Amino acid sequence: MRYGIFSDVHGNLEAFKAVMDFFSRQGITKLFCCGDLVGYGPNPLECVKLASTIKGLYLVLGNHDAAVIGRMKVKWFNDAAAAAIEHTRSRLTGEAMEFLKHIPLRIDTPDFTMVHGSPSKPLVEYLISEMQFLDNKKLWKTSPCFVGHTHIPCAFHCDENGFPHMELLKQNQMVKVDTDSVLINPGAVGQPRDGDPRASCGIYDSFMKVFRLHRISYDIKITQQKMMQSNMPELLIERLGMGL
Ligand SMILES: [Fe+2]
Ligand SMILES: [Fe+2]
Repeated sequence: MRYGIFSDVHGNLEAFKAVMDFFSRQGITKLFCCGDLVGYGPNPLECVKLASTIKGLYLVLGNHDAAVIGRMKVKWFNDAAAAAIEHTRSRLTGEAMEFLKHIPLRIDTPDFTMVHGSPSKPLVEYLISEMQFLDNKKLWKTSPCFVGHTHIPCAFHCDENGFPHMELLKQNQMVKVDTDSVLINPGAVGQPRDGDPRASCGIYDSFMKVFRLHRISYDIKITQQKMMQSNMPELLIERLGMGL
């Protein structure tokens, strides 16, 4: 089975549609999102509506989704993120809030595991170091474990001596899932932070046990114009164009 794997849409409808079109062109019908469907971007309602109508799309809850529905306190977020959460709340309908409230914290399938931040702290941990990977690696049964949250595409694995390694992933880079402790972050659709402003996503082939990262271009200026019209923080508008 080939799965479309992505994360951190963050209310960016243009990027979301571009990634969905890409998966559709690839003939991918099973789609999995590692959380943060909303927050930051100007179209949270449209993104929730689109997600709710795509057959074969499954999501886990992200910290921004959790804050919007009241499962996390906004005080844990920086000023720009908190402002974006208030903006998101003001845009969502009751039906959209209900959709978010029914998203699980974790998905376990026969082919992989999925959480937002990390298996031990799904809503808060930014899994960026090899030590954190070691601390978490006993907490999933089926590799790979897909996470999001950091917005940085990368992969962790242990070598034959049990030493942990992390590598950043670029366009078209492949990760072989050849051990039972591989963790992969597909990067962010709606707000990449690795210096490449294109939307990030990946395809996991569970038969070949290979993940491949893809970067998808979209019209960033349209999203930035919408953010300006919504008086969203300048910092959030600028960083989108730089992928930071
Ligand atoms: Fe995020
Ligand atoms: Fe997050």
